[in-house]
Amino acid sequence: MEAVTTAAFLHLCLCATAAVSDIGSTETLVLSAPGDIATLPCYTDSDVPPTLTTWAKNGREVARGDASSPSPPSAGRRVAVTTDGGLSIGTVARGDEGAYLCSSTLPGNNTFHARVSLQVASGPENVSASIGPATALANGTLVVFRGSSVSFNCSGASYPAQRLTWATPGNESLASTSGSWLDFRMERVQPSAQGLYSCRARNPVSGREVNTSSQLLVYYVPDRHPECTWAPAQDPSHAQFNCTWFGAYPTPTLRWGEDEGNRGARRNGSVYASGSTESLSVTLDRSMLSDGQTLRCAAQHLALAAVPGASCSFTLRSPYPEGEPLVTALEATDVTLTCTEAVSLPPANTTWRRGLRQEAVVPGWKYVVSEEGPVLELKILNISKDDEGVYFCRSENALAVRELEVYLTVKTSSTYTGAILGVFIAALIVGSAAIVAKTLYFNRHRFCLGDGFGLMEEDRGDVLSLVESDDDQVFQDAVPRLAPLANGLQTTLVQMHRIPSSDHEDAEPADTSLQQQEDTSLQQQEDTALTEEPQDLVTF
Ligand SMILES: *[C@@H]1O[C@H](CO)[C@@H](O)[C@H](O)[C@H]1NC(C)=O
Ligand SMILES: *[C@@H]1O[C@H](CO)[C@@H](O)[C@H](O)[C@H]1NC(C)=O
Ligand SMILES: *[C@@H]1O[C@H](CO)[C@@H](O)[C@H](O)[C@H]1NC(C)=O
Ligand SMILES: *[C@@H]1O[C@H](CO)[C@@H](O)[C@H](O)[C@H]1NC(C)=O
Ligand SMILES: *[C@@H]1O[C@H](CO)[C@@H](O)[C@H](O)[C@H]1NC(C)=O
Ligand SMILES: *[C@@H]1O[C@H](CO)[C@@H](O)[C@H](O)[C@H]1NC(C)=O
Ligand SMILES: *[C@@H]1O[C@H](CO)[C@@H](O)[C@H](O)[C@H]1NC(C)=O
Ligand SMILES: *[C@@H]1O[C@H](CO)[C@@H](O)[C@H](O)[C@H]1NC(C)=O
Ligand SMILES: *[C@@H]1O[C@H](CO)[C@@H](O)[C@H](O)[C@H]1NC(C)=O
Ligand SMILES: *[C@@H]1O[C@H](CO)[C@@H](O)[C@H](O)[C@H]1NC(C)=O
Repeated sequence: MEAVTTAAFLHLCLCATAAVSDIGSTETLVLSAPGDIATLPCYTDSDVPPTLTTWAKNGREVARGDASSPSPPSAGRRVAVTTDGGLSIGTVARGDEGAYLCSSTLPGNNTFHARVSLQVASGPENVSASIGPATALANGTLVVFRGSSVSFNCSGASYPAQRLTWATPGNESLASTSGSWLDFRMERVQPSAQGLYSCRARNPVSGREVNTSSQLLVYYVPDRHPECTWAPAQDPSHAQFNCTWFGAYPTPTLRWGEDEGNRGARRNGSVYASGSTESLSVTLDRSMLSDGQTLRCAAQHLALAAVPGASCSFTLRSPYPEGEPLVTALEATDVTLTCTEAVSLPPANTTWRRGLRQEAVVPGWKYVVSEEGPVLELKILNISKDDEGVYFCRSENALAVRELEVYLTVKTSSTYTGAILGVFIAALIVGSAAIVAKTLYFNRHRFCLGDGFGLMEEDRGDVLSLVESDDDQVFQDAVPRLAPLANGLQTTLVQMHRIPSSDHEDAEPADTSLQQQEDTSLQQQEDTALTEEPQDLVTF
């Protein structure tokens, strides 16, 4: 990642003649790094060594050398004059930079002056950039998320202070400073900020430049959740579920699965499809779908780390067509059969069928089918006796097929008269029945009827035995279901039997035990009878 460019590499001494020599004098530039040994030249003609040389820095003498008695090198001294009049600095340190002046006396009493400019520079080194908060990908590319605030900090070590600059291919200077670090902050990062960021550190003295750069990607997800849709498949027992999530960068991973914990025993949060895509569709058939099952499309994306759970889901429902099961209409009128299918998910294909063979109802001069929201209506025009019969409101989705059966009775005007006659006869019967009932009531001691006898209704194969505690008499009749016991029945033991078990000599042990216990706690016996013979109880 780090690319290091060296403009100039400093060694022991890098000399360059900066100015042309005056008569009897020269000016030289010496560049050195801390720790180096540097030699500042004075007189270049080594054939004629100078007799005396003095070196001054910024006007102050720092060394003096005699040709006859040269100052002993490194006798505790960092600087010394060489035999040819040069100034040797054992270990260059920060602060040694400055303007040096050499004065040499040559044989023949000629003097020579030379100016040397010493510059001390090091670095930049250890240049590093940190961009954050960011996530590093395996290849070193950094990822930040749209809208976040990102800090770009670049640092390095340099003497003297380096020039630090943040740049992109499109902007040579996003920020710049002289110092050991440069922090540049970007608020609410936008996708356009994606690119290569380089931090350049440049030593102002040596011109050495070090460059480090990072590839930055700006990831983002849309504000919306994924969208789950369905589409009918060719085969009605299949359904296609589509999940789309546009506007994420990079491409998200979508996964169609079943919610865990739901039908856990059968499918352990199974995944039906998964892929790196913006649109994922899966086709499921009846064997994989069940009522109440929740299908979920979950999106995975690095930019979602902070807000997990971007998903959409369906809770599947089998069709459930509802409506009036019995419809009566007068001949030569129009009748409308109504069916409401409101729960099915995915939405059912609801159609009207006719007859036991469920032939499709073809709209035309006879039938008008209309749909308004969840309500599907079938209007049958000018009905005749032929229209009588069974109609089906058939509702099918990928989960199941369910039908609402509607029976249409067509009354002709004659049946109408008949009906009126029927009502008259019925009234007559009810009247006579009332008289009979009254007679029976006044003679009830002869029939030994219990107070709760009114429970009995039409014959449905079950038998209710009423045992009056006083005189052990058993009456039997058939009831369709057991009505809740009223308080008034507390003295009566209620037992259920199946026809043809007709009397109290029933072989069932529970029965016999009950018969024996009759005179003890009757309420308790009721409870026992109801719980010990569940196979004989009619649920209510
Ligand atoms: C050299 O010159 C200086 C003055 O510039 C003078 O004092 C000195 O005597 C001279 N020496 C000789 C050997 O000429
Ligand atoms: C640069 O880094 C190395 C290793 O981390 C360290 O030893 C050295 O002192 C650093 N140089 C400067 C000038 O900070
Ligand atoms: C690093 O990986 C990301 C995603 O995998 C890719 O977009 C990017 O181009 C890669 N960068 C480099 C320098 O290969
Ligand atoms: C930038 O990085 C340098 C070196 O790691 C550190 O000393 C400095 O505090 C950082 N600046 C900011 C603003 O984080
Ligand atoms: C470079 O970025 C700086 C800071 O964002 C801005 O002031 C400057 O105008 C930009 N220059 C160019 C050429 O885009
Ligand atoms: C810094 O490095 C990058 C890639 O390493 C390069 O594209 C860019 O030109 C360099 N910049 C300078 C000023 O050297
Ligand atoms: C799913 O959605 C995508 C994008 O809207 C569309 O291209 C594709 O046809 C859809 N598939 C189904 C089965 O609806
Ligand atoms: C569901 O999966 C987990 C781990 O994948 C497993 O531990 C668990 O037993 C599974 N449950 C069922 C009911 O299969
Ligand atoms: C509904 O089912 C009928 C046949 O039962 C078929 O002709 C029709 O295309 C289906 N409609 C849709 C929307 O699937
Ligand atoms: C209704 O049907 C009967 C025969 O079923 C027909 O005679 C009559 O003309 C029809 N009425 C209308 C209005 O179509």
